[in-house]
Amino acid sequence: MPVEWRPEERQFHLHNGRISYVMRVLANGWLGHLHAGAPLAAGRSYAHLGPTDFQGFSQRVGEPVGLELPTAGSGDFRIPSLVVEQPDGSSLLDLRCVDHRVLPGKPPLAGLPSTYVVRDEEAETLEVELRDEIAGLEVRLLYTIFGDRPVIARSAVLANRGEGRLVVRTAMSASLDLPDSRWELVQLSGTWSRERYPHAAPLLPGRRSVGSLRGASGLEHNPFLMVQRPRTSEAAGEAIGLSLVYSGNFLAEAEVEPRGTARLRIGIHPEGFAWTLEPGAELALPEAVLAWSGEGVGALSDAYHDLYRRRLVRGPWRDRPRPVVLNSWEGVYFDFDHDRLVEMARATADLGIELFVLDDGWFGERDSDTSSLGDWVVDRRKLPGGLRALAHDVEALGIRFGLWIEPEMVSPRSRLFDAHPEWAIQVPGRGRTEIRHQLVLDLGRPEVVDHLEAAISGVLESAAISYVKWDMNRNITEPFGGTLPPERQGEFFHRYMLGVYELWRRLTTRFPDILFESCASGGGRFDPGLLAYAPQAWTSDDTDAVERLRIQWGTSLVYPVSSMGAHVSAVPNHQVGRITPLATRGAVAFFGQFGYELDPRRLTEAEGVEVRAQVRFYTEHRALFQQGRFVRLRSPFEDDGNEAAWMMVSNDRRRAVVAHYRVLGRPVPRYDRLRLRGLDPLTTYRVTPWPDAAGIGGVARAGDELMSVGLGIEPADPPNGVGVGDFTARLFDLEATGG
Ligand code: DGJ
Repeated sequence: MPVEWRPEERQFHLHNGRISYVMRVLANGWLGHLHAGAPLAAGRSYAHLGPTDFQGFSQRVGEPVGLELPTAGSGDFRIPSLVVEQPDGSSLLDLRCVDHRVLPGKPPLAGLPSTYVVRDEEAETLEVELRDEIAGLEVRLLYTIFGDRPVIARSAVLANRGEGRLVVRTAMSASLDLPDSRWELVQLSGTWSRERYPHAAPLLPGRRSVGSLRGASGLEHNPFLMVQRPRTSEAAGEAIGLSLVYSGNFLAEAEVEPRGTARLRIGIHPEGFAWTLEPGAELALPEAVLAWSGEGVGALSDAYHDLYRRRLVRGPWRDRPRPVVLNSWEGVYFDFDHDRLVEMARATADLGIELFVLDDGWFGERDSDTSSLGDWVVDRRKLPGGLRALAHDVEALGIRFGLWIEPEMVSPRSRLFDAHPEWAIQVPGRGRTEIRHQLVLDLGRPEVVDHLEAAISGVLESAAISYVKWDMNRNITEPFGGTLPPERQGEFFHRYMLGVYELWRRLTTRFPDILFESCASGGGRFDPGLLAYAPQAWTSDDTDAVERLRIQWGTSLVYPVSSMGAHVSAVPNHQVGRITPLATRGAVAFFGQFGYELDPRRLTEAEGVEVRAQVRFYTEHRALFQQGRFVRLRSPFEDDGNEAAWMMVSNDRRRAVVAHYRVLGRPVPRYDRLRLRGLDPLTTYRVTPWPDAAGIGGVARAGDELMSVGLGIEPADPPNGVGVGDFTARLFDLEATGG
């Protein structure tokens, strides 16, 4: 059994040979933390890894106690994980373990997204029950260990079992005490058009945090943090990740105290948060996923990719091959009508692309971003036959049809706003800030969720719609719940998120065969919470191939390639004005959910030929790109950032595609070999450049040689014309030829 309980030491040990998580009940009844990370043998006591009791932080010099549920005012003095205000105004807690149970599998979290198991045998969950008798507070801490993953999923349920009202002011999903602070903290940060760049810095005394107070996880920081030992690389070294399955306000923080221990915590941002628990009420906290690697950051990413792809993403599209799409946005923006769209779709089908997505502008009277959000009624001026006729004409071309929506928003210039101005988030008596000329609907109100379910369902039932891009283009200002009493305003943001999740749940349950993609001005809500409903997300509005190298590299730290929408767009690029070769744009977008974002009618004949070849290459390798293992080889953030390389390897290690990118051409290129990873050392591979315009053909190379000596990538290959000039990409197709 992966959950071991040793009554002698009152020790819990969650173990599966890939990770160990050890806790013990201290003498005072508190839950102490002993170890998280490298797998340890079962059947042993690890009590010596920590003090047997908590007696206040400063009294046991040199022995800061590892705690699972640190609270404020206890003498611990480090950042707390739980602060609950009691009827007398105090927040002191004395939470003692009163019981524990081991559950088969993994129970769901009420109203929240979470990882799951298909069969109970895949995991075991330890539930530890703690109680503070004076406050009447019960805390059930949940720890799931999966059979074969270096991962522990954590969450908690708070319950008021007393007679007075409790107010939860801080409630972290996970707190992790580390015995030393010789770590670097890695965060994924950026902004619009350059989301999720990795930043690493040594842990220093004091606190360091990232978070969001925007009502969404945001473009600026991702709900994730990682610590890695100095000099950890992709393939060697120790790293611990904490990832939060949540899409709203979050805090991810590290603290180093004077004696050099470190504490990490992740959860809902406490700033402005206050949740009232009346007697009998419960609050479930979002799930945090801890992953550990002793073999570099690459293995940490493998753990997240596999878990999130197989046991967070749900529904038929988890495993179904996903289509190559063409999205209309950068091609025509708001400027279209039925006939133009059908012409575009015809050109799309002619290129071998499988699904045509009509982006923003099809509803109300939306000729620009200044109106109509909320009016989910087709604009008959542009589409006289409605969506039904358009989808019909698109499907007649042998391809599928997809549609853009932005349900959470309302334009002040809309019928919905005229009918229900009170549904827009606002503080009564104060002004409303418009961003992109729009306001946010209060999804904390059940009637708003009901209305949106009906309105969007009506649209989705009105035509043959196979794909939905669900956008969200502004963050929340003037936060206030119009139906919440004053003492519950601190619940506003979380209630908004619960409403958003409820709407996603209802629509994805009602339309299981529709492939949903989430989007938030690009990657403004690219988080595990939404992956539980939409298996893919629009990674960034920045479609430039060079920019995408960094965005996709950083995103891949946590998120699988199958979750990252990546499209080839026209040049000059609409975000940065750069002109990159079509081949390079394709070679970058292959390593994402592949598609196009341009007007296909404007392609030259030669470009059309190239696009057809790209689509053929991708669809022939679809299983590899969508379900294979992604291996980062050369970082666009290292050295002078002029190069990047990565690869996909099939799970049976018989196929791989390797990509090497160079931003600027350099005179006298270095002779260079790219060391691959993840191949079978005993297998011989045929390595063929793609495209192989000069018909050079492949060469046979042994897996061990490709990994220990490398694949020659320089000097560039003039006969092929590949690899010469600026913004170049070289692709290599690897196929096992024998054992
Ligand atoms: C922002 C998205 O990120 C874009 O891809 C596009 O859908 C626009 N919104 C449409 O308004």
